Amino acid sequence: MSNIFADNILLGKVAFVTGGGTGITGGVARAFAEHGAKIAITSRKEENLIPMKQFIEENGGECFAVAADVRDFDAVQNAIAKTVEHYGKIDIVINGAAGNFLCAADQLSSNGFGTVVDIDTKGTFNVCRAAFEELQSSKGQILNISATLHYLATPMQIHVSAAKAGVDAITRNLSVEWGKHGIRVNGIAPGPIEDTEGMKRLLPDALKEKITRKIPLGRFGKIADIENAALFLASDAASYINGVTLVVDGGQWLQGTSLA
Ligand code: COA
Repeated sequence: MSNIFADNILLGKVAFVTGGGTGITGGVARAFAEHGAKIAITSRKEENLIPMKQFIEENGGECFAVAADVRDFDAVQNAIAKTVEHYGKIDIVINGAAGNFLCAADQLSSNGFGTVVDIDTKGTFNVCRAAFEELQSSKGQILNISATLHYLATPMQIHVSAAKAGVDAITRNLSVEWGKHGIRVNGIAPGPIEDTEGMKRLLPDALKEKITRKIPLGRFGKIADIENAALFLASDAASYINGVTLVVDGGQWLQGTSLA
């Protein structure tokens, strides 16, 4: 997809992106760099960050890579501090780090449930909390990536549904509590997006066609669809949008998750 937005809409902004090495948030990091932002990407393993860092730099952007497990508040604080040391500020925080696997509720252990809630929900809070002072001084913003799984009920995904419902609650709460500091807090809820690690692991090929038939727009989403939603929400065009989770799913969740 060619650029829809002006190249420089994020010129001079610094974006701190968790899970920014790969997948949907990797795409968002790359797109933000293309539109003028300086990028910091973080994930548990540094080796997962290197290809994206190289890609952004080879294409004329700036990218700082710092490893941190979002479940570990001290590690998150350290990653934020190193980013500020490197760039001098943070304007945009994107919470994309997530854990996922398919598991029926009656097979899932308490630790399995808690692990995903820790990564998605507590991890999102940790990053928002650790970045608060920086965002307060930059009058910055937060974008939380959640999902539509919890709008109805998605079998085999009780842990992720609970975790993402928590992420949406964080988006709403912080938009109210931190709006007075000039910090906007929004979210994006992607539907089925093709060419992502999650989709490859979670969706058997046999189901892809059935699901496509249930998507009103008749196709899976592309990572570029999420990039464009994120660019819009991060840009000045959305300067009065606060506390919204924008669903980007071709209308899928309204059709329900049943494949019958
Ligand atoms: N089915 C059922 N339970 C699972 C599971 C699966 N596929 N994968 C992990 N768990 C459970 C483990 O059994 C363990 O619980 P237990 O101690 O009661 O046995 C608990 O979750 C923690 O697992 P562990 O592997 O120690 O956690 P981790 O912190 O190393 O990794 C994930 C957890 C979720 C991140 C891991 O599944 C993973 O690496 N996934 C791939 C990355 C990913 O999900 N990306 C997001 C794409 S949308």
